[in-house]
Amino acid sequence: MDQPVRIRLEPLGEVIEVASGTPLKDVLFLRGVEFPCGGHGRCKRCRIKVLAGNLPIAAAEESLLSPGELAEGWRLACHARPETAVTLEVAQWETAILADDSTFDFTPGEGLGIAVDLGTTTLVAQLLDLSTGRTLAVSSTLNPQATCGADIMSRVQYAVLENGQHRLEAFIRGAIGRLIRNLLQGWTGPEAPPVRRITIVGNTVMHHLFCGIDVTPLSRVPFEPVRDGLEVFRATDLGWEIAGDAPVNFLPCLGGFVGSDILAGFLATRMQESDALVGLIDLGTNGEIAFGTRDRIICASTAAGPAFEGGLISMGMRASTGAITEVTASDGGLQCRVIGNASPRGICGSGLVDAVAVGLEHGYVQPNGRLPGPSHRFPLCPPVELTQGDIRQLQLAKGAVAAGIRIILARLGASPSDVQRVYLAGAFGNYINRTSARRIGLIDFPNDVVEPAGNTALLGAKLALFTPDIDFASIRARVQHIVLSADPNFEEIYVGEMGFPTA
Ligand code: FES
Repeated sequence: MDQPVRIRLEPLGEVIEVASGTPLKDVLFLRGVEFPCGGHGRCKRCRIKVLAGNLPIAAAEESLLSPGELAEGWRLACHARPETAVTLEVAQWETAILADDSTFDFTPGEGLGIAVDLGTTTLVAQLLDLSTGRTLAVSSTLNPQATCGADIMSRVQYAVLENGQHRLEAFIRGAIGRLIRNLLQGWTGPEAPPVRRITIVGNTVMHHLFCGIDVTPLSRVPFEPVRDGLEVFRATDLGWEIAGDAPVNFLPCLGGFVGSDILAGFLATRMQESDALVGLIDLGTNGEIAFGTRDRIICASTAAGPAFEGGLISMGMRASTGAITEVTASDGGLQCRVIGNASPRGICGSGLVDAVAVGLEHGYVQPNGRLPGPSHRFPLCPPVELTQGDIRQLQLAKGAVAAGIRIILARLGASPSDVQRVYLAGAFGNYINRTSARRIGLIDFPNDVVEPAGNTALLGAKLALFTPDIDFASIRARVQHIVLSADPNFEEIYVGEMGFPTA
């Protein structure tokens, strides 16, 4: 290597060494940073901030970034080539990744355990003391597979059409191995007890790509996996050096694209033991819905797409600095809450739901989704606004979720008023305003029935560490997976649910 340069990447705290002058784009691309305009300097979404050290300003950056931004240390990763040691903050990594700090009942064991939530967009791992149940360390990162496609179908296409299955597998095994190394490097005691077991949960595509199972069956009708059960490895099988060569369990899927993240959600909410009718809704990059009781649960995935994470929205972004996260109306105008008290630069999912709910109340958005007025735009807080196309994207997404709920409840012979509790899983579920979600017809249950449940996937993965003999077969036997689009009434219900309630 030419003269090595040490780069520290915040807020993940990762330290790397590269040859002097290496394009930062190549380095960050492998770590999941997106370059939406292909690195041509048009979108400014690859912004990085120099926290320590020096990163010379490229000529193109002088015209793309304001003098104030340059003075604050902002640069564009697609133009940067560090030549000396530097500490950088990667703006895309500011996204708050939801871990889990809930307390839970457990039977004490021995040694350490590691739980991993393998999400389409983010990865979170926690190190636990199995004797006390305490969380000793947390580590998170973006899923590096995102460089090959933002959502699960584009990953499947990349694997099948571009022969990328092995690359995706190497990305994810490597990333989780690094997360685990980070967790264990933080150990400060005399000598770390051995890691007894590692539990991983994720949707079906993540399950297949991690476990090395061909995703081709997931690329075509009927989109059913041929092998989606519990997969057991040793750490060394995966190239991970962990004292004791701990067993690694990837928990089983439930059918179609509904994976062990939802199964773990059952463990976290004890839905599979409930006498009353309850639901679990997880709206992330992929949308999953389950309703049922201890006797029978029906689950489905929805084609909700990434709209609830800001994807496909013209000024959409994840919930990081500069994102509008709440919108309210007062004094005849709109008030926006912006993450980090920064100037608004986009809108995330919870802000989008709020904005449309407020827009419906005050006539900025019509019940059929039309934006009145000649411009067909809905200005929020400058420069952020919603376009007619944005409203359509939200209608498609919320229509798919609402239709999914209706079809599942109809199959169970139940109505919304029979549902005693609806758990909203994941970051979006945690931050969404329940009144706004009901106002737009996304989750049409009374507020006191709906409960934000946090990262149920991670909590369920932790619970599985303490109970290695969970009878997954018995749970899976009571769960029926359905394909929503195959329901004879799907089209009619979906189209009906795309409109907004009138009041
Ligand atoms: S990737 Fe668009 S400006 Fe850098």
